[in-house]
Amino acid sequence: MKRSINSLLMLALVAGIVASCNNSKSNKNGDQGALASNAAEKVYVAPGEHDEFYAFFSGGYSGNLTVYGLPSGRMFKEIPVFSQFPTNGYGYSEETKPMLNTSHGFVPWDDLHHPDISQTNGKLDGRWIFVNGNNTPRIARVDLETFETEEIIEVPNSAGNHSSSFITENTEYVVAGTRFSVPVPQEDIPINEYKGKFKGALSFISVEQETGRMDIKFQLMMPGFDYDLSHPGRGKSHGWFFFTTYNTEEANSLLEVNASQNDKDFIAAVNWKKIEEYVNNGGGTKMPANYAHNVYDHGTHNATTTMKKEVLTVDPTKVPGAVFFLPTPKSPHGCDVDPTGSYIIGNGKLSADLTIHSFDKMIDAIDNKKFDGEAYGIPILSFEDILAGTVKQAGLGPLHTEFDGKGNAYTTFFISSELVKWNIETREVIDRQPNYYSVGHVMIPGGNSAEPFGKYAVSMNKITKDRYLPTGPELEHSAQLFDITGDKMELLLDFPTHGEPHYAAGIPAEILAPKSKKIYKLEDNKHEYAALTSGDTRVERDGKEVHIYMSMIRSHFTPDNIEGIKVGDKVYFHITNHEQDFDVPHGFAMIGANNAELLIMPGQTKTLYWEPKQVGVWPFYCTDFCSALHQEMQGYIRVSPENSNIELTWSLGED
Ligand code: CUA
Repeated sequence: MKRSINSLLMLALVAGIVASCNNSKSNKNGDQGALASNAAEKVYVAPGEHDEFYAFFSGGYSGNLTVYGLPSGRMFKEIPVFSQFPTNGYGYSEETKPMLNTSHGFVPWDDLHHPDISQTNGKLDGRWIFVNGNNTPRIARVDLETFETEEIIEVPNSAGNHSSSFITENTEYVVAGTRFSVPVPQEDIPINEYKGKFKGALSFISVEQETGRMDIKFQLMMPGFDYDLSHPGRGKSHGWFFFTTYNTEEANSLLEVNASQNDKDFIAAVNWKKIEEYVNNGGGTKMPANYAHNVYDHGTHNATTTMKKEVLTVDPTKVPGAVFFLPTPKSPHGCDVDPTGSYIIGNGKLSADLTIHSFDKMIDAIDNKKFDGEAYGIPILSFEDILAGTVKQAGLGPLHTEFDGKGNAYTTFFISSELVKWNIETREVIDRQPNYYSVGHVMIPGGNSAEPFGKYAVSMNKITKDRYLPTGPELEHSAQLFDITGDKMELLLDFPTHGEPHYAAGIPAEILAPKSKKIYKLEDNKHEYAALTSGDTRVERDGKEVHIYMSMIRSHFTPDNIEGIKVGDKVYFHITNHEQDFDVPHGFAMIGANNAELLIMPGQTKTLYWEPKQVGVWPFYCTDFCSALHQEMQGYIRVSPENSNIELTWSLGED
């Protein structure tokens, strides 16, 4: 019986996408269209004026993070995180290559999911933004003064790092949970020994408050379920973290059927403060591990990799009172906590109703030991005991919920393709607006904090179809901006997003803009190959290795003519940008380099590696149009045969 209900839901899921697209097409210029009101005025940011919010969109399979302005929907920047980025040479320069090191070697791509901005006392503070690499499990920290990736830590014992990267209300921890359970430690065993043998690691990564430096404090070794999403407790529930699970059936094949058997899966409630105390008192088991910790230093302009060899694991059954299961219907996806920390919302993706758990009732049930069985030694609470209520027939296929800070929640429904506004206390639906089409995540700036900025909601849609001019079979995804200041939501704008956004994080511009870094001070440059003055420029040979200490300023390189390089040499161009003005990078590109160009910021040193393969005189040039004489910013390298004895010389302004 269960199976047939699930099959019907599956059909609805597939059919729903089609139906919603067809339905939506007919009313795309209907009464909610942008022509119906002053929507155009509301999103118009006049030339030279600035947006009210920054919005950081996950780039999904682009591996990177994109920065947009709201309400205009203008894209400002792509921040490379997990993917090599030829636009500025990230992952191509010698300095940034170590950022992409892992225990599997150099991994120049990932599937970037959930951005979360650092908080103090539950409020956005705009110091850093954290993101997760889903494929080769990693957590990255991006600095919000420089908009650069400063740190990436690999997460061992994890696979499909999806219930990540969400932070606690004082940024004590950034939390990463595994989607796919795996053998821990990894071993060569039959896949059908999954049940009971595979584990789901939930990692609590501490954040050093001055520097942001990350370290894995402990990994909680949970049963072999799939841990889908997570959110922190806040206010009264600060100290707890909540994780949705699916596949509590522990199936290892045909999950679309076999992981949809149980009527309810769980939200795992983790009292991390209790575990932290246990660990601080010597609890937990150190186990051998192998994972990369990559840190970029803005003083040396260099990244370094440290391979870590140990991780502290915690068996949840050894810490009584720390972990409980909250039964939640229908393979819950999003796990969202309201701004007061009172309610935990489970978005059961195969359900029509939304489940709202009460934190107070949960604590009450725990205090009175009212358990309804256990799973692998972890107590299961009774659904009825902890339920605050349900939103009935809110839509089909709920995925994610955000909050406006005025007592309302906004839930996306993938199958019925709509954004639904409802009241958290009364659980009544207030408004629903169609999305074009098949919405995934929704973001309200500060929506995952104690103080959301409830002016706009952005839906991130999975299907784009006819929203923009066609661009061949592949379309960028579609975001839609809603004004949520009134009772009814108003659709204001469509704009495309790059890659597939899985969540976004927004913050008022006034928090970030004043502290945005303008230049790197040349006097603070501690790069070991920097040429801080033109007098420091030189070329040095050490066997086949050649180091070129070069500088750049509008509009020449020093030196610009180099002779005595030979075929088969290993040439390192160490280039220092001597500019000290805002927005004057120079680029560097060398013919035949198996590499991208580098874009070098004022005061920065970057290194491009080149192996000359052919005899001749080969040019290099500046790639960034830096002045009226940009086209003159060029130079030559003379490459001689491997056995030649041409002397190594370099010059500028000599014939
Ligand atoms: Cu420097 Cu163009």
